[in-house]
Amino acid sequence: MTEKLDPWSSSEINDYSKLFEEFGISPFDNVLPEIPSPHMYMRRRVIFGHRDYEQIAEAMRTGAPFSVMDGFMPSGKVHLGHKMVMDQIIWHQQMGASSFVGIADREAFSVRGFSWQKCREIGVEEYILSLIALGFKPDGLIYFQSGCDSVKDLAFELGVKVNFSELSAIYGFSGETNLSHMISVATQAADILQPQLEEFGGPKPVVVPVGPDQDPHLRLTRGLAGKMSMFRVEERENANGEKYLSVRGKGAPKQALHELKKRIPGKVKLYEEHIDVLQIPDYAFLERFSLQISQPEKREYFMTQIQEIAKFANEAKPPEFLDYEKYFVFRRVWKIIRKILEEVVAEVSAEFEGYAFIPPASTYHRFMSGLQGGKMSSSVPDSYIALTDDPKEGAKKVKRAKTGGCVTLEEQKKLGGKPDECSVFELMLFHLLGDDEELLEIRQECVSGTRMCGSCKQLAAEKMYEFLKDHQEKRELAREQLDEYKIIYKK
Ligand code: TRP
Ligand code: SF4
Repeated sequence: MTEKLDPWSSSEINDYSKLFEEFGISPFDNVLPEIPSPHMYMRRRVIFGHRDYEQIAEAMRTGAPFSVMDGFMPSGKVHLGHKMVMDQIIWHQQMGASSFVGIADREAFSVRGFSWQKCREIGVEEYILSLIALGFKPDGLIYFQSGCDSVKDLAFELGVKVNFSELSAIYGFSGETNLSHMISVATQAADILQPQLEEFGGPKPVVVPVGPDQDPHLRLTRGLAGKMSMFRVEERENANGEKYLSVRGKGAPKQALHELKKRIPGKVKLYEEHIDVLQIPDYAFLERFSLQISQPEKREYFMTQIQEIAKFANEAKPPEFLDYEKYFVFRRVWKIIRKILEEVVAEVSAEFEGYAFIPPASTYHRFMSGLQGGKMSSSVPDSYIALTDDPKEGAKKVKRAKTGGCVTLEEQKKLGGKPDECSVFELMLFHLLGDDEELLEIRQECVSGTRMCGSCKQLAAEKMYEFLKDHQEKRELAREQLDEYKIIYKK
């Protein structure tokens, strides 16, 4: 049997594949080639799925504004599972995302029964210090849900579009579920949509890196994004099979629809509740249209894009203008008109107190298993490593961890080990080894029976010790830097 040269596939992935069919999560492989320099978790297939990540990849490539948003319920100790999420937030921040981190004290209060004081302590002492120590930069926003008026107001508004049947279908809520728990769900949706509010620069792609357990929140929020928006931009086709764009504004104020029509140049038709954009696009049209965008940064961004297309189209002019080039230009023109239209729609919506949310994107990562096999559980300290564990204790936990090795050395030499069922290998894959080659080598040595578990444990324990020691020093520095960060606490 030939061994796969992919050190990052796991037997567990098969279980995750159900998510693709049942919930419409897309395999991450599809979007991987579009990402400039993918994160370790992407390369290693720790991140296995996504929704709409194309728009994030595109924003990273073109320099368009985008955000990363995530939340942590302040429930207990910050551990390696949280580090995974934090690493992804920080990576997106480094890739240019404006960043938002919510401490879900409303969730902890309503679901766990924690006091506000306890939420604050855990929030700062566990999560915020580690987030900063891992590299979160001060230009991002950190907030406690209960201190953030814009999130609370938005949550209330979102509540209008959520009813109990929907909550019970998504979350299995019953007659016993308390009201605050439901409010905390609306609050999480508000967390996710907040980066698109006017005060943060308006609609933009937002990515939420999560484990699959958080997907229900994403489904709810994506639905809400559509329901809350004043207009919907759609692609349509006329009787001749030609495409055009249409803006549907069911329930939108009539003046808003009129105002929108005024801002779309060229051939446009206004109906009772929608507008059809029928202009055949050329350079002049694109230029005129983009001038309608009032935000200077965005306007310039689109101008540059348009100039690029024009340049390409000019350089590739006949007689050598190949079909695929025509197609390429057509596709880009089409996409850019849609985007300009969406910008203008967003501006008009905002002027009429409406929203124009883009459904949030998400990524899904595999969970680490517990160090003793099975699940990580906060009630079993030996099953996980906290970022605040004494480094020596952390190293010991690694040495006690369950491996995928055989019972006797002879057997292991003959049969090889099973890295996919080995929590020590997992630690190296998720956290401790940054070098893909080295990891691949360990995997091959393990499988072929030339590597014994002792050497992995030794290596991983040393790295764990170093990591924890360094991280905890950085946490102390972070404590002193807290003032430099934008943190909204509960008043
Ligand atoms: N529910 C999440 C948890 O249990 C925390 C959370 C709150 C969150 N708001 C969020 C996660 C927004 C992602 C996005 O940890
Ligand atoms: Fe795990 Fe290393 Fe043992 Fe293989 S040799 S089972 S990777 S500890």
